[in-house]
Amino acid sequence: MILVTGGLGFIGSHTVVALQENGYDVVIVDDLSNSSIDVIDGIEASSGIRPLFEEMNLQNSIALSSLFQKHKIKGIIHFAAFKAVGESIQKPVAYYQNNLGSLLNLLAEVEKATSPIPFIFSSSCTVYGEAKELPITENTPIQSAKSPYGNTKQIGEEILSDTVHAIDGFRVISLRYFNPIGAHSSIAIGELPLGRPQNLVPIITQTAAGIFPELTVFGNDYPTADGTNIRDYIHVMDLAEAHVVALERVLEGKSNDAYEVFNLGTGKGSSVLEVIQSFERISGKKLSYKIGARREGDVIAAYADTTKANNILGWKTKRSLDEAVASAWEWEKKAMKFLK
Ligand code: UD1
Repeated sequence: MILVTGGLGFIGSHTVVALQENGYDVVIVDDLSNSSIDVIDGIEASSGIRPLFEEMNLQNSIALSSLFQKHKIKGIIHFAAFKAVGESIQKPVAYYQNNLGSLLNLLAEVEKATSPIPFIFSSSCTVYGEAKELPITENTPIQSAKSPYGNTKQIGEEILSDTVHAIDGFRVISLRYFNPIGAHSSIAIGELPLGRPQNLVPIITQTAAGIFPELTVFGNDYPTADGTNIRDYIHVMDLAEAHVVALERVLEGKSNDAYEVFNLGTGKGSSVLEVIQSFERISGKKLSYKIGARREGDVIAAYADTTKANNILGWKTKRSLDEAVASAWEWEKKAMKFLK
């Protein structure tokens, strides 16, 4: 049984489906603080299998202990965390408490287990900040975090790399995600931001759906080819499949080191305007947008060097930006019908 924390969230739900498609049994733990219970139906519609589900906040160590007694957990994929950069600046205590408290409670269960339980951690390319070199390799220096959210990812990684030395045989992989977008081909699960979305692609699709009158491009005076920020947008199913490969690596004891880190991106940078153009191309719709001021805290450019993930993890992306944007748009159109 694989424990997927935050398994009803965007990346979590897609990873659950990828795990099921590869024959794994999954138990999801989620506190529904930023997800909907209906996602379970979407997972079942995508994979044909209804996952086990326990509604629980991971800070409840007593409930978590009983979960580990009830299920024979062979591996843990830990997604559950608060993830809004701006909100984390307003609520640092809540972010540190939730993101680090949850991780520590899980590690306390790993410590108690008769044999160490392999662990996959959701990290982020945000740890690199404004990288001095592009593309970003795993050896690109980490910079001091610009937000409590980013700091919880950095500290989480440090906690894990310390813990592998203390628990004999404990294997951990931290996966540093670039920008995940898109939806499973079933269009039964997708990105479901509660409240106003913060990320580019859901804002594009919701603007096209008429929920917002127009999109603001945050700055076109950056030192890039078209003046807008560059990011590495990766199809969420490519990202989900990387988790299956990483899990197999730790389960089968194939890691080179007890603690390993991989960047997960496509290796290709796209500007904000290129993503808008991709949307216009795949949807045949003109998007209403204007150029606005820079958003505080945005880095100019971030895209992955995929060499380590390709050669050592043995994983490659299969899907293009247009495919990812098209699936996000299909998902949005389905949500529109549902709302009517
Ligand atoms: C950032 C972090 C990522 C983190 C995520 C959490 C970096 C490089 N990335 O993603 O690790 O997990 O926050 O949310 O630090 N944009 C607009 N108009 C909009 C919305 C976005 O122009 O209305 C632009 C942004 O300026 C940015 C790009 O779109 O250039 C992507 O933004 P977003 O989707 O929010 O992701 P990041 O900020 O890259």
